[in-house]
Amino acid sequence: MFTLGIESSCDDTAVAVLRDDTAVLANVVSSQDSIHERFGGVVPELASRNHLLAIQPLIHSALQQSALHLEDIDLVAVTQGPGLIGSLLVGFSYAKAMSYVAKIPFVGVDHMAGHLFSVFLGEKHPSFPFIALIVSGGTSSIYICNSFTSFTLLGRTRDDAAGEAFDKVAKLLGLGYPGGPLVSQYAARGDANRFLFPRAWLEKDSYDFSFSGLKTAVLQTYKKHYPELQKNESQLIPDICASFQQAVVDVLIQKTITAARNNSITTVVLGGGVSANSELRTKMTEQCAIHGISLFLPDLAYCTDNAAMIALAGYHKYKKINIANDFDTDVFSRSIYN
Ligand code: KG4
Repeated sequence: MFTLGIESSCDDTAVAVLRDDTAVLANVVSSQDSIHERFGGVVPELASRNHLLAIQPLIHSALQQSALHLEDIDLVAVTQGPGLIGSLLVGFSYAKAMSYVAKIPFVGVDHMAGHLFSVFLGEKHPSFPFIALIVSGGTSSIYICNSFTSFTLLGRTRDDAAGEAFDKVAKLLGLGYPGGPLVSQYAARGDANRFLFPRAWLEKDSYDFSFSGLKTAVLQTYKKHYPELQKNESQLIPDICASFQQAVVDVLIQKTITAARNNSITTVVLGGGVSANSELRTKMTEQCAIHGISLFLPDLAYCTDNAAMIALAGYHKYKKINIANDFDTDVFSRSIYN
């Protein structure tokens, strides 16, 4: 069975072709980073217009890479939400049109389900149940996953998502966009112990997150030490980045491991753009080993937004409920799982 996946929830347009639930035949992404960079964040109107320009050539290229034609495709899986409505509508309308013209079933997929199961696109697969930490530009959530179609939210962010905090800190330090990889690069040569930034643990046993206070603390520290920058103190930005990253990583790891232990679950899975962060990957690996937990990390290509994960989630949804096309369904901006 061949599934064509389409993802257009934010600023990346992505198309993938999956054979059954195992082989990724094509996984192409058209990034809009250079368009939004100068604004320090995604401009929704520009995002949707550029999805329109990118989608047709990407579908063509994914089919060509897979050596398939549209008639060979058995299912179209497309991100239905959450995301920017204008962006979602481009992919969703395209999927409906393809489905109608080529008489192929289509399924709408929750973007979160894509991130939750992106680890299955790699070589080693976890068994159910597992605890999943999904950290991206729009989400910081912990779930218990019992199957491909059954997952329960344990905790979520009450303000900024982890990736959003990385992006905002990068912006206030003048580093550029997207912030996560840039902050991480500076952090690699910084001292994580120089600034003790706050960790928001919230109430006892809460699995929720809060990163907005941390962001404010970074801003205050930056302002206080700004004169050092003018004296060419080249360690200030790396040290702020390393200390900030450490504060985010500490909270993400501790809450995830507590969720696993409290629910007697011995497998943890990561997903979402921030799961590409090398400090998070290294420290989570160390801590899981200490607590006897098996950790599954997605391949780097499947951490940030991609359509292979949407194709996989759509494949499982279709297999489970065998839904028929419903051309009246619409996109949604907020996840029902978040
Ligand atoms: O999953 P994703 O591509 O899009 C959403 O669904 O939001 O995640 C994008 C987010 C951005 O906030 C980006 O700054 C962050 O993931 N990110 C990182 C890293 N790579 C991407 N954050 C920290 N460290 C990284 N290496």
